[in-house]
Amino acid sequence: MKRVRSSILNQHTIEKIVSGADAVIHTAGQVAVTTSLEKPGMDFDINARGTFNILEACRKSKNDVRLVFCSTNKVYGENVNSIPVRKGSTRYRFGDANYSMGIGESFPVDGCKHSPYGASKLSADIYVQEYGKTYDLKTACFRMSCIYGDRQFGNEDQGWVAHFVISSLLKRKLTIYGDGKQVRDVLYVDDLVRAYDAFISSTVDSNVFNIGGGPENTLSLLELVSMLESKIGRKIPLDYGPWRNSDQKVYISDISKAKKILRWKPRIPPDKGIERLLQWARSALGNEVK
Ligand SMILES: NC(=O)c1ccc[n+]([C@@H]2O[C@H](COP(=O)([O-])OP(=O)(O)OC[C@H]3O[C@@H](n4cnc5c(N)ncnc54)[C@H](O)[C@@H]3O)[C@@H](O)[C@H]2O)c1
Repeated sequence: MKRVRSSILNQHTIEKIVSGADAVIHTAGQVAVTTSLEKPGMDFDINARGTFNILEACRKSKNDVRLVFCSTNKVYGENVNSIPVRKGSTRYRFGDANYSMGIGESFPVDGCKHSPYGASKLSADIYVQEYGKTYDLKTACFRMSCIYGDRQFGNEDQGWVAHFVISSLLKRKLTIYGDGKQVRDVLYVDDLVRAYDAFISSTVDSNVFNIGGGPENTLSLLELVSMLESKIGRKIPLDYGPWRNSDQKVYISDISKAKKILRWKPRIPPDKGIERLLQWARSALGNEVK
């Protein structure tokens, strides 16, 4: 395996790399909603222009490249908040039975606020679909929910599961924005890698897939705190702050399409995945958490 260090904004280098590839998994991105609000131009350049560069490189390649683009559930933006929710003691739930399996790929992306991050990723997502249809590239938009796992250094802006795990081990106070009852479906990284493989090694045509833990693998922020408290054996100090811009009260991916077309489903439930992440974080942080 050869490793080349380059920005995806460097089109010449990207074209050279992609020309020798059979498959491209496009993970590079500006990943934080907060940063996108402060620096929308940079966010646009990396997520929209950068993805366009990758697409152009695939189009010019002589190989029959299969491309997976890491899109996001944020493409559905605040439309998700138009679904009524019910508030329980530790979590919100969708209050509309039509969403008992979660949010599917045909859920509307238009007519709402997204955050600049959601908008730049949606623009890239549409370009990836367009190149699939217009240039017959084999492309998959994976609209991913919360991915977590070993070697993830989460922070307040991105990667909340790893952020909670690492901060708890370091005995840091956690700030919860909103009431902590926000719910996400969570997917352990090994399961995501199997989904990449499932598309790349298949002959499946271009498509859009919601990829996440689905309704069987969900957690609210407060539920993760409580799971960590019992695993670590002490209370985690909490602070509360205001709701964040464009936050979704509940987001759960309907993964039926990926199950059917990619013959894929998550295997690692949150309890097991969090245990693995804790073990990794303990060994990575070493003496700091002894
Ligand atoms: N982790 C999640 O829960 C999640 C959810 C939905 C979508 N995504 C998407 O998945 C992808 C990977 O996210 P992640 O969570 O691993 O975050 P990450 O920050 O670990 O990975 C993003 C990577 O992109 C690189 N990058 C940034 N600008 C670049 C540029 N101009 N050229 C080349 N590389 C550049 C960064 O150095 C970083 O290594 C991103 O596109 C993100 O939008 C992640």
